[in-house]
Amino acid sequence: MAVKVTLNPEPVAEAEREKLLEAPVFGTVFTDHMVTAVWTRAGGWEQPELGPRRPFAIQPENAVFHYGQQLFEGMKAYRGVDGALRLFRPDQNAARMNRSALRMAMPQVPEELFRESVEALVRADKNWIPGQGSLYLRPFMFADESFLGVRPADRCIFCVIAAPAGDYFKSGAAGLSVWVEQETTRAAPGGTGEAKCGGNYAGSLHAQTRAYEEGCAQVLFLSADGSGQIEELGGMNIFFVKKDGSVFTPALGTILPGITRASILALLRAEGTPVSEISYHFDELKADVAAGEIAEVFVCGTAAIIASVSRLKFDGGALEIGEPGPLAARLRATLSGIYTGAVEGPQGWSVTV
Ligand code: PLP
Ligand code: COI
Repeated sequence: MAVKVTLNPEPVAEAEREKLLEAPVFGTVFTDHMVTAVWTRAGGWEQPELGPRRPFAIQPENAVFHYGQQLFEGMKAYRGVDGALRLFRPDQNAARMNRSALRMAMPQVPEELFRESVEALVRADKNWIPGQGSLYLRPFMFADESFLGVRPADRCIFCVIAAPAGDYFKSGAAGLSVWVEQETTRAAPGGTGEAKCGGNYAGSLHAQTRAYEEGCAQVLFLSADGSGQIEELGGMNIFFVKKDGSVFTPALGTILPGITRASILALLRAEGTPVSEISYHFDELKADVAAGEIAEVFVCGTAAIIASVSRLKFDGGALEIGEPGPLAARLRATLSGIYTGAVEGPQGWSVTV
């Protein structure tokens, strides 16, 4: 379904845009346009429309305010070394959005509608891609029905907005301090941990507040069963590198199946590095760090790409990991190269718009 395009007659002036693009803080600057598409249970999807970015007119009784029936995706567009606009594995974001939609009792978004909406926005707002950065794209969907009964909404809105992005962390590539949360958890078996829905993030913020108080940038969550199994961060997956060069990451189940995570696993497997997806407990990590077995810890996700962890702090102590390591730096360079087309990645990973 082709996107109906109405360009913004009053875009941000070029000089102002250039200034905003100098050093955009993640998620604070937005582009001139947005795409919206309406779904109703009776009529299905209406034609998506690209138009000026604007507020929604929503009644206070809208189901999304009360029961949080919503979900989102995160992906980036890059200006390639060849000047072409590029997306990284957009088919994976479309597929994950539909898995989240299934879990949240929301409609499936046809891949074509997803792709055409994202691509139309990238084309319209290509001047918002910073020289040394990317355009963060946020497709999302929410219940749009005035109704306080608890049931899946009969009307939803799919929307895509865009935000120029530089480094996600203020510290850039320097090692992060991460808070290991042992009071609250993020997800439980059968819950919504695997879905990219706002409630997972709302539930993580109490621990995030503690993390900031402790001088940490992010929170590492452990399993809800009390066994201390390591899961993921509030907005990123985590990897561990052993002294012998082997690499492992928590297995899927209650964590978000990160596209960066899957891509790192594929790249490492292709080059013959031993990698595994395992169940790994915080007590084991403590013992491994004490024994000098852990060479590197790094986190990954669309917003952050890859960032090294230098320290894990928790109630009663801290694990010192050390300076950012070589594998994180190498993977970050490879992925960044694939994003812009400077490095040839596996077939279909870098898609020109
Ligand atoms: N885990 C959580 C909770 C996230 O929010 C994200 C970011 O989207 C990730 C992991 C990493 O996923 P991806 O690599 O697809 O961005
Ligand atoms: C992303 O990387 O796309 C996320 O949604 C995570 C969040 C930290 C912005």
